[in-house]
Amino acid sequence: MSRTVKTKKTQQFGKKRETGNPKSSGSPVRSKPTSKKTSAVWDQAAQWYDALVGLKGSEYQQAVIFPGAVELMQLRKGESVLDLACGQGVFSRYLSQKGMKVTGLDTSEEMIRFARSRSDKSIRFEHGDAQDSKALEGKVFDAVVCLLALQNIESLLPVMHNVKRWLKPGGRFVMVTTHPCFRIPRQTHWGWDEQKKIQYRRVDLYGSESAIPILTPPFAQSKTFTVTYHRPLQSYFQALAEAGLCVDGLEEWTSHKTSDPGKRSKAENRARQEIPLFMALRAVPAALKE
Ligand SMILES: C[S@@+](CC[C@H](N)C(=O)[O-])C[C@H]1O[C@@H](n2cnc3c(N)ncnc32)[C@H](O)[C@@H]1O
Repeated sequence: MSRTVKTKKTQQFGKKRETGNPKSSGSPVRSKPTSKKTSAVWDQAAQWYDALVGLKGSEYQQAVIFPGAVELMQLRKGESVLDLACGQGVFSRYLSQKGMKVTGLDTSEEMIRFARSRSDKSIRFEHGDAQDSKALEGKVFDAVVCLLALQNIESLLPVMHNVKRWLKPGGRFVMVTTHPCFRIPRQTHWGWDEQKKIQYRRVDLYGSESAIPILTPPFAQSKTFTVTYHRPLQSYFQALAEAGLCVDGLEEWTSHKTSDPGKRSKAENRARQEIPLFMALRAVPAALKE
């Protein structure tokens, strides 16, 4: 399946861009409940995702994402953490084992059911939409983390407003996505340059936001899709800034894997180390201007 749906017209870089909400300036609180379809699709994907990730996480989660995210979050033992779009709770369990007080929120009831059945009762799992301005009303945390999920959420700005609302003064927000510049489904590919003998990464589309349907493995017959929302970097930074969050850390993580020895293995390993797989970003509530 190779349908890519553009969500808006390409705009010139450097110009201010709307960030997924038509009323993106002025009003302080925005709410965008998930369409039934989004949660229903993730409900259907839950069993497959749970089998993929298991109790302790996928290979990438264990080797790259979890340790990297914990370091960026600058956690102290006993702090409260919101695991936003927690899925079946794999990172919530990891954080809990490190002595944190964890709450997980996810829009899929099935994911939450898996999370509860796989985790210690001390972790609180709530069903809710990260875009909903009423979600976890009155709750605040030392840190909010969102792993590999912002790219599955339709509107960024309401999420960022909520993150700001959920953070205590001095709180940290850490988000990890597949790298928005180099890992765009169906728009980025590895290629081989025969003359230079290098493996390169080709980028066919970057500046336009787009909604890319992904045929998730268990649905091969049923034609059910999850959606990956591609956004250029400026969309993330604009939404964060508009919500009053200030980026104070950015890391680009490469794969921990290496190729088996062979004719191209040196070039493949070099490319893997040069072209990051994930982007991790930390933001904090912006200081109030006098
Ligand atoms: C790829 S999974 C990542 C799950 C988990 N963070 C992890 O690293 O294993 C994406 C998750 O985002 C959740 N999700 C999608 N839209 C959401 C929304 N609007 N609010 C809360 N969760 C959402 C899905 O239900 C799914 O569990």
